[in-house]
Amino acid sequence: MTTTVALAGSTGSIGTQTIDVVEAEPERFRIVALGASGRDVASLAAQAARIRPSVVAVSDGSRLDELKAALPSCELRLGEEGLASLGAEADVCVNGVVGFAGLRVTLATLSAGRRLALANKESLIAGGPVVAGVRRTPGAELVPVDSEHCAVHQCLASAPDREGRGADRVQRIVLTASGGPFRGRTRADLQSVTVDEALAHPTWKMGPKITVDSSTLMNKGLEVIEAHELFGVDYDHIDVVVHPQSIVHSMVEFTDGATIAQLSNPDMRLPIGYALAWPDRIGTAFGRLDWAEVGRLDFEPPDLEAFPCLGLAYEAGRIGGTAPAWLNAANEEAVAAFLDGAIRWIDIPDVLEAVLSRHDGGRAETADDIVDADARAREAARRALAAR
Ligand SMILES: NC(=O)c1ccc[n+]([C@@H]2O[C@H](COP(=O)([O-])OP(=O)(O)OC[C@H]3O[C@@H](n4cnc5c(N)ncnc54)[C@H](OP(=O)(O)O)[C@@H]3O)[C@@H](O)[C@H]2O)c1
Repeated sequence: MTTTVALAGSTGSIGTQTIDVVEAEPERFRIVALGASGRDVASLAAQAARIRPSVVAVSDGSRLDELKAALPSCELRLGEEGLASLGAEADVCVNGVVGFAGLRVTLATLSAGRRLALANKESLIAGGPVVAGVRRTPGAELVPVDSEHCAVHQCLASAPDREGRGADRVQRIVLTASGGPFRGRTRADLQSVTVDEALAHPTWKMGPKITVDSSTLMNKGLEVIEAHELFGVDYDHIDVVVHPQSIVHSMVEFTDGATIAQLSNPDMRLPIGYALAWPDRIGTAFGRLDWAEVGRLDFEPPDLEAFPCLGLAYEAGRIGGTAPAWLNAANEEAVAAFLDGAIRWIDIPDVLEAVLSRHDGGRAETADDIVDADARAREAARRALAAR
C-alpha cells in the first residue's frame, strides 16, 4: 500500500532530502502536496513539475501571479491556513519548515489524527504544552526526524516494555553534539568569528538558521527541550556530550546500567525514511557505516562557558510554560540579526539572556497563547538588539 506524504518546507534541506527518500522508494511513498514560503517560486515550480502534487501551499502570497503561472495544474492554497491545511492532506506530513512558522503545520497534522514526521523542532519547543494536548488526538502520531531524537526513538523502540513502564526504566537520555565549527575554542577566541565561519559546519549540511544554532550550541539546547517534550524525561536526566564524528546520534541509558545507542553516518535521509516508514524500515540504506573506516569515536563534555546558549536552554526548559517560546523567538531574531551582519556571533547569548530576564510568564494553553508569547518575546528581542 502506498503511503501518501504532504511535505511542508519542500524547498529546504529537509524538504529536498525527503524528496530523495520518496524517489528512492516510489512504490512505497507518494508526495501529494508541497508547501513552502512561496518566496522561491522557481524551486517550487521545478519540484511541482517533477512530482505533480495535487496541492501546493505557500504562506506568502505576494508572488501569487508568478505562482499561478508556474503551477497551472495544482490547487494553490495561501497563507498560514493554507500551509497548515497540508497536515490533513496525506497519511504523513513532514514538517520541514524552519522556525516558529512551522507551528500551525505541527498542530494541524496532529489535530487531524495523522502522523507528523517532525523536523521543525521550533514548533515543539515553543508550543510544547499545546502540542502535548493535540498529540492525544486519536490516530495522531509524532515521529521525530531530528537525528538525535530519532536515535532516542529507535533506542526506546528496541527496548520494548510489556508492562507500560518504559519511561520508569530510562535513567537518562544522552544527546550527542558535533560541537560545531568552533569546538575547542575559548570565549576569547570567539570574539570576531564571521558568518561564513559559523556556516561551515564540519559534519552536516543544513539550512542557515540551524547551522548557526549548531555553532552556538543553541541547537543542542533546543534539542534538550525537544527531548523533554517528546519523551517526558525531566531535565536532570537529559545530558549532552560532544561527539565530533557525528556517528553516534544519541543514546538511552537504562536503570540497569545498559546504554543503547544508534549509529550511522550523518545522513538525514535515514531519520526521514524512519519517520515515513515507522514502525517498518525502508529498504534503502542511507548512512550505512563502513566500520573499518570509522576508526575512532571521541566523546567530551560541552564547554558551557564558551557556549552559554546550552545553559540558557536548560534554564528556559526548567521554567517551562512560555519560557521556551520566548527563548526560541529571541534566538530566531538574534540569529537573523547575526546573519544580516547587525550583531556579532558573541552577542547572540547576551540577547537571549536579556530577553529571558524580561519573560513575563503568561499562559501556554492555546495556540493563540503561544503566538502571543512569540510576539512579545520578539518585541523584547528587537528592543535588546536595538540597544546594542
Ligand atoms: N537540515 C537538516 O539537516 C536538519 C536536521 C535536523 C533538524 N532540522 C530542522 O528542520 C527544519 C528545516 O531546516 P532546514 O535546514 O531544512 O531549513 P532550510 O533549508 O532553511 O529550509 C527551510 C524551509 O522552510 C520554508 N519556510 C521558511 N519560512 C517559511 C514560512 N514562513 N512559511 C512556510 N515555509 C517557510 C522554506 O521555504 P522557501 O524556500 O520558500 O523560503 C524552506 O522550504 C528546522 O526546524 C531545522 O531545525 C534540519
